[in-house]
Amino acid sequence: MSRTIAVTGATGFIGTMLTKHLVTAGWHVKALTRPHSAHRLPASAGLEPVSGSLQDSASLDCLLQGADAVVHCAGAVRGVTAADFNAVNVEGVKQLVRVALAQSPRPRFLSLSSLAARAPQLSHYASSKHLGEEALAGMAGDMEWVAFRPPAVYGPGDREMLPLFQWMGRGIAPVLGETGARVSLLYVEDLCAAVLRWLDAGQCRSGIYELNDTRAGGYSWDEIIAVVSALRDRRIIRVPLPAALLRSLAAMNATTARLIGYAPMLTPGKVRELRHPDWVADNTALTAAIGWQPGFSLQEGLQRTMGWGGPGRGA
Ligand SMILES: NC(=O)c1ccc[n+]([C@@H]2O[C@H](COP(=O)([O-])OP(=O)(O)OC[C@H]3O[C@@H](n4cnc5c(N)ncnc54)[C@H](OP(=O)(O)O)[C@@H]3O)[C@@H](O)[C@H]2O)c1
Repeated sequence: MSRTIAVTGATGFIGTMLTKHLVTAGWHVKALTRPHSAHRLPASAGLEPVSGSLQDSASLDCLLQGADAVVHCAGAVRGVTAADFNAVNVEGVKQLVRVALAQSPRPRFLSLSSLAARAPQLSHYASSKHLGEEALAGMAGDMEWVAFRPPAVYGPGDREMLPLFQWMGRGIAPVLGETGARVSLLYVEDLCAAVLRWLDAGQCRSGIYELNDTRAGGYSWDEIIAVVSALRDRRIIRVPLPAALLRSLAAMNATTARLIGYAPMLTPGKVRELRHPDWVADNTALTAAIGWQPGFSLQEGLQRTMGWGGPGRGA
């Protein structure tokens, strides 16, 4: 009999790739789908759309019925105010946990948090991810739960990191962070592999786990640029973007977004995240708990994502 899993955020960047991997691995996937994005869910045997949203507990009950596990990938990654983020990243977690606790038997619960949760003072996004973790830990009781804290994730369909890599591939590297800053990165297929490993590992100690790729200690901006430069076999010009310029652009962006009501990526909080000196994650606890190890370096992840590094290929 196939095992059943409930997934939220299946129409997003990470959720799309995760759902594909789960179906391939033989899971029956029930995917929470908002009506306006239903067209983004591929028709596939083994994938069952459940129409609804995190704000609609009846749809969440339908989603979780019969599920052995739930993987909560839905999240707000763009916004201006604390309310924009908290409505999804805090209240959404609470709602889903409440419904999970009402199931019998209870599903195992994996929530995609973020490494940003480690520095909640930086932005409304970071704070909301931190509060979401606290809500999960505080409410779960004896339900098995984990919160994964990925660093910046990249791969096909990503709208944040890929534009930056594309600029670098064309020979220009906007440098957004401080000199000396270090960041961990994670190729999306490694994240999916970690989720599948957690599912297959059976019991895992409840708690918060960081993830990163094969490079312990992360990357400096210069090291990232060097990887792209080697893959593209070209010189890349560094264009440091001063913090003051980024802050002004972000302030203008946030004001415009408030006036015309859209959810921007570059906000004052995002600039503080970008300028933070330490986004280095550490896999040790997760590897000890479930035996997962990342399989891709940045070079390999970019080769697979962009088609770089082979003759006559490239974006
Ligand atoms: N991408 C990264 O680098 C990264 C790094 C660390 C952590 N994370 C976390 O990973 C998760 C997924 O990120 P992503 O990059 O895949 O984001 P994404 O592409 O923006 O996808 C977000 C998903 O959440 C869904 N969603 C948003 N609000 C919802 C609501 N009220 N009810 C139901 N579904 C809702 C969206 O549905 P629609 O399609 O209907 O809008 C979409 O499927 C987020 O929690 C994020 O914080 C991401």
